[in-house]
Amino acid sequence: MAQINPSILSADFARLADEAEAVRGSDWLHVDVMDNHFVPNLTLGVPIVESLARATDIPLDCHLMIEDPDRWAPQYVEAGAGSVTFHVEAAAAPVRLAREIRAKGARASMALKPGTPIEPYEDLLPELDMVLIMTVEPGFGGQAFLDIMLPKIRRTRELIAKHDLELWLQVDGGVAAGTIERCAEAGADVFVAGSAVYGAEDPAEAVRKLRGFADKASADAWWACAH
Ligand code: DX5
Ligand code: ZN
Repeated sequence: MAQINPSILSADFARLADEAEAVRGSDWLHVDVMDNHFVPNLTLGVPIVESLARATDIPLDCHLMIEDPDRWAPQYVEAGAGSVTFHVEAAAAPVRLAREIRAKGARASMALKPGTPIEPYEDLLPELDMVLIMTVEPGFGGQAFLDIMLPKIRRTRELIAKHDLELWLQVDGGVAAGTIERCAEAGADVFVAGSAVYGAEDPAEAVRKLRGFADKASADAWWACAH
């Protein structure tokens, strides 16, 4: 079944515990950490992740859009994140970092900006629990989905199948009712949605709808059948 991860970037930061409650039934809560260096925006850090982990039962999926993840990512595991995603463009030693995240007890995930190809990282895939293919330039919510990322999603799914890996494929950016089906057909199985969830009248209902669209689209997809 498709997993839907609402992004709290589109939530009210003064009411994060309530905003987590508003998407009860979601698989993960997506937490965008930005440092105003790796991306031109600033959000939140370790203390807020620590508090949020205590305030909700939904596991936290931390997406680190920061410089020097080698230094900082392990602290997000200690803060209570169940999954930690670092950007490979920023990591000095991605294999060592993925191993450290796993050793500390979280799922390890690697993100690629739109301009970063997957092919150079084929040999790293067994070290990971998830790959995140960005479908917008990281930094801001509410941007338009980049269709030209669909072939990269497909190629990543082909590599996962080729190596017979239990690897989740996440997409993030512009994922909504009009775009989620194409992502699912191409091979994504974990979907981050910010404005499409928190911009809706009923966020929990928006999550259920998105999951329905994704499940329907992936049911007959080449990659799901082969699985
Ligand atoms: C963008 C963030 C996304 C953002 C997605 O840099 O990584 O997680 O919240 O927002 P939407 O779904 O509105 O594109
Ligand atoms: Zn994100």
